[in-house]
Amino acid sequence: MDFTRLFRPGILATRPYSPGKPVEEVQRELGLKDIVKLASNENPEGPLPAVVEAICTAARGVNRYPDAACHYLTQRMARHLEVSPGSLIFGNGSNEVIDILIRALVSPGENVIYSQHSFIVYALTTAVHFESGRPVPLAPGDKHDLPAMAAGIDDRTKLVIVCNPNNPTGTYNTREEFDAFLAAVPPHVIVAVDEAYYEYVTADDYPQTIGMLSAHPNLVILRTFSKIHSLAGLRVGYGVAHPDLVSELHKTREPFNVNMLSQAAAVACLDNWHEVEGRRRRNREQLDWLCGQLSGLGLEVVPSQTNFVLVRCPGNAGRLTQDLLQRGVIVRPMHAFGLGEGALRISVGLPAENQRCVTALKEILN
Ligand SMILES: Cc1ncc(COP(=O)(O)O)c(C=O)c1O
Repeated sequence: MDFTRLFRPGILATRPYSPGKPVEEVQRELGLKDIVKLASNENPEGPLPAVVEAICTAARGVNRYPDAACHYLTQRMARHLEVSPGSLIFGNGSNEVIDILIRALVSPGENVIYSQHSFIVYALTTAVHFESGRPVPLAPGDKHDLPAMAAGIDDRTKLVIVCNPNNPTGTYNTREEFDAFLAAVPPHVIVAVDEAYYEYVTADDYPQTIGMLSAHPNLVILRTFSKIHSLAGLRVGYGVAHPDLVSELHKTREPFNVNMLSQAAAVACLDNWHEVEGRRRRNREQLDWLCGQLSGLGLEVVPSQTNFVLVRCPGNAGRLTQDLLQRGVIVRPMHAFGLGEGALRISVGLPAENQRCVTALKEILN
């Protein structure tokens, strides 16, 4: 059947999101038992025991719909961030909050500015939503060109998305750069700062954006439980913004968008926030080790503030990825992000997993 005439042109021209290969698929295809997945920026440590316990307890109640208002999670998060409960919106991953923002704000003919070589969902979501995306090239050093993004705003711009730190480059914009950017953006243009990797950052000059909300009512902060908190499989993320903005956004979300298990798990993560510091430190140690090893192999490594690193190899990263796959190591070639043939993203794994990746790379490159 040819359904093409039924769909908007933006949808027909868009390719679906291509996730990192699941471990089970690679096991099936290659007949390998022991697979290391370093492809989706997940936390290899897994959820905390207290979080698993909260999920199990909540599972007994799944015959009922979840709390549509995420009441307990909202109250707990509001206390944690020291913001009002009305400033919070939760989503089925922060991905859904990005989608809500774009759908709620952008009408035909209007546009959304984001950086090229950034989280691919901005391009995909704006493509299917009136082809509204306006990517701006990266600055030297693979970071967002915030002055160029501010300069790109026109009278049809509704939203600017800043990914800080950026996926897939791992780079970040400093507080000074972000302050100057906010000062340059007209107050009627919404700035969404996607901080999915916020908890991993160790740089002192990284902007602490929650404190900027009162001075900038056009600011929306996006965070997630998918990364350092190890809840990628449950899907829970959130936005923090001015309550008047949030109350409008709530109208465009599905009524029961955050399931019962996710709400319970996220509350348990907040109750165990003291664990974040150790997770951040262990990630940093492994990231530094991995980067040192990769540089030692002659690969170009982009300094990262996240739980992954962008690497440039002299040849074809797709080929290298296949060779690594044959050795049971899944990484992510970056051609879908437009970063060129040689670009490859490696997520930080457990020490033995990182060691295995480096050993496999040594075998291949030598
Ligand atoms: C920059 C960025 N934003 C958002 C997300 C989506 O996170 P979630 O799992 O909360 O939808 C990701 C996931 O990889 C990401 O890298």
